Amino acid sequence: MPRKLRLGLIGTGLAPRHLYLPAFRALQHRIDLVACTNRTRAKAEQYAADAGIPVVHDTTDDLLADPEVEAVMISLPIDTAPRYVLDALKAGKAVMTEKPNAANTAAAKRLVASAARYDPPYLVGENYAFMSHAHQLARWVAQGRLGELRTVEVRDFTVMDQAQPWFHTSWRHDPAHVGGFVVDAGVHLAHVLREAVGDPVEVRGLQALQEPALSPVDTIAVAMRFESGALGSWTSCFSAPLEGPKIRIAGTKGVASWTPATAELVTRSGAVTRSEPKEDSFTGQFRHFADVVVAGAEPLVTPADTLGDLALMERLVKGR
Ligand SMILES: NC(=O)c1ccc[n+]([C@@H]2O[C@H](COP(=O)([O-])OP(=O)(O)OC[C@H]3O[C@@H](n4cnc5c(N)ncnc54)[C@H](OP(=O)(O)O)[C@@H]3O)[C@@H](O)[C@H]2O)c1
Repeated sequence: MPRKLRLGLIGTGLAPRHLYLPAFRALQHRIDLVACTNRTRAKAEQYAADAGIPVVHDTTDDLLADPEVEAVMISLPIDTAPRYVLDALKAGKAVMTEKPNAANTAAAKRLVASAARYDPPYLVGENYAFMSHAHQLARWVAQGRLGELRTVEVRDFTVMDQAQPWFHTSWRHDPAHVGGFVVDAGVHLAHVLREAVGDPVEVRGLQALQEPALSPVDTIAVAMRFESGALGSWTSCFSAPLEGPKIRIAGTKGVASWTPATAELVTRSGAVTRSEPKEDSFTGQFRHFADVVVAGAEPLVTPADTLGDLALMERLVKGR
């Protein structure tokens, strides 16, 4: 059994509480949460009590100066994170940071170029990238199991309303990052799509703000053309209860579908193959971070990959 990763947490808001805590509990044999910090200290203290973290630092600088911390998870509003990523790398800490890399593609390019000057690992936590069945979808395509690709459909539907905790975070209202929820959430699906079929060579789209609280855009409908010749569509809507994230790829020999819960291949003869994720995506994400930092595993996803996911989402919301 490898030794445990000594992890510090920068930001103790909603994502650490709702999404990371179960993963940290499942990974107690792999990760020691040694310290945390948050702009509002009282929230860090509450989180530390709930997560069993022994030290709460007043500031990020204090946490980065703590020799017990060898790696950090950064969970901050999207536009504020890059500066902390560079501070942490400069302090010699391995970094995992929330997605997307930065507030827009230009800022993400600058960040990725600056971060390349430092040795410690730097990963972006696009959690679908750590799900085994996302790689299975890409393998089916690469192995020719679908034949020649014809169409690609992507749908990303969620009702983002008062009932959702994320709706109430002030930085998501009139956000400093490009594309609001459409981009913030869409990078996950963009990653799965790009791993399977690459970037579209052409996009032409429409966008709308139908629910004013979800500024600047809550709906997009985009046509895509891929290098293979396949045509596709991407529809996102954050104010209608159709269905959650879904990808469907159709080829001459079969159709593959992907959701966060399952991947399925149905061939022309009707044979069905399914693949399910081996674990919760956040457990996969943090397990992989420990493997990279402690055991020197090759990162499954590079900041350049996730920059590509952001760049695709930015093209889609711009419609070109
Ligand atoms: N992977 C996923 O599926 C997923 C899902 C949800 C969110 N996320 C990502 O997680 C990150 C955090 O989102 P969240 O929903 O947890 O937001 P949140 O609850 O608002 O948490 C943000 C944290 O950052 C702190 N903060 C705010 N402005 C700051 C500033 N200018 N400087 C330093 N700290 C600041 C806040 O401190 P205070 O306590 O003082 O306000 C808060 O603790 C985002 O990057 C988001 O995209 C990822």
